[in-house]
Amino acid sequence: MKILIAGANGMLAKAVRKQFEKEELICTDIMEDDTIQKLDITDLEQVQSFVAKCKPDVIINCAAYTAVDKAEEELELARKINCEGPKNLAISANQNDCILVHISTDYVFGGNLSLDCVYQEEDEKNPVTVYGITKLEGEKAIEQNAEKYYIFRTAWLYGDGKNFVRTMLKLSKEKDKLTVVCDQHGSPTYTVDLASIISQALEKNIPYGIYHTTNIGYTTWYEFTKEIFNMAKVSCNVEPVTSEQYQTLAKRPLNSMLSKDKILNQGIIIPDWQNALKRYLDVELYRS
Ligand SMILES: NC(=O)c1ccc[n+]([C@@H]2O[C@H](COP(=O)([O-])OP(=O)(O)OC[C@H]3O[C@@H](n4cnc5c(N)ncnc54)[C@H](OP(=O)(O)O)[C@@H]3O)[C@@H](O)[C@H]2O)c1
Repeated sequence: MKILIAGANGMLAKAVRKQFEKEELICTDIMEDDTIQKLDITDLEQVQSFVAKCKPDVIINCAAYTAVDKAEEELELARKINCEGPKNLAISANQNDCILVHISTDYVFGGNLSLDCVYQEEDEKNPVTVYGITKLEGEKAIEQNAEKYYIFRTAWLYGDGKNFVRTMLKLSKEKDKLTVVCDQHGSPTYTVDLASIISQALEKNIPYGIYHTTNIGYTTWYEFTKEIFNMAKVSCNVEPVTSEQYQTLAKRPLNSMLSKDKILNQGIIIPDWQNALKRYLDVELYRS
């Protein structure tokens, strides 16, 4: 299988590259290096000629504008990367009869769903952040321009890159006490497990469409932090605070819980978030 990876320098892309290392990979990103060719997904002509030339079987789009708070002040740039980019990839995938795999987010939902409910794929979208709005526009652009596509909505991603777990471990060395938000609910997701889900979906040829793909189980950032320190045997006091007390430029959803029933019904295996965290920490603590 020939796979074109866009945004190949990103955190998820690193796990995707490893997952598919036995396949023929064409790695691209906005910045080229020894292993990565330059491909700016916002440039339609560039994308069309690149895809036509290399003729991949699958395009995996890991490229995105992911700075959630900064996006509030950079709507046009976020829209270009999160909407125009996927649209260009969708057009090119369609012209070359290849499958497009795209990653989206829990932020397409407003997050105000009652906490005894979880979001289904088709539930009403009402994103409240620029990031969420532009990611939803990207989903729609793919639906309108591609025939063979998977949109995998994920959340709370961590892996080999700047992420919440790394930040908490670093802060625990600098401070005796940390305050962490306790009223936002969701599922932490290990990039390695999301890469495996992508691989299983392609292998099993599951029906095209939108799927929720996070690790199994739900928690809060506060409980997640306590589990990180517990598993890593770190002693640091963690105090709960509300979202009201911890204000950010972009308003975070209180309910980010995504139902995984649709993807699980396709026979895809997904580990729970505690199992994923344990495997990540084994790698991460060995690394540092
Ligand atoms: N991180 C999370 O918690 C999270 C949660 C839910 C969903 N997601 C989604 O998961 C996906 C992967 O996220 P991630 O955290 O792995 O992202 P990431 O680490 O920020 O990587 C994104 C990559 O895309 C590149 N890029 C930016 N503009 C580009 C362009 N015009 N053309 C080509 N490449 C471009 C970036 O390059 P530069 O770094 O040089 O800009 C970077 O290498 C994204 O779709 C994201 O929206 C992430």
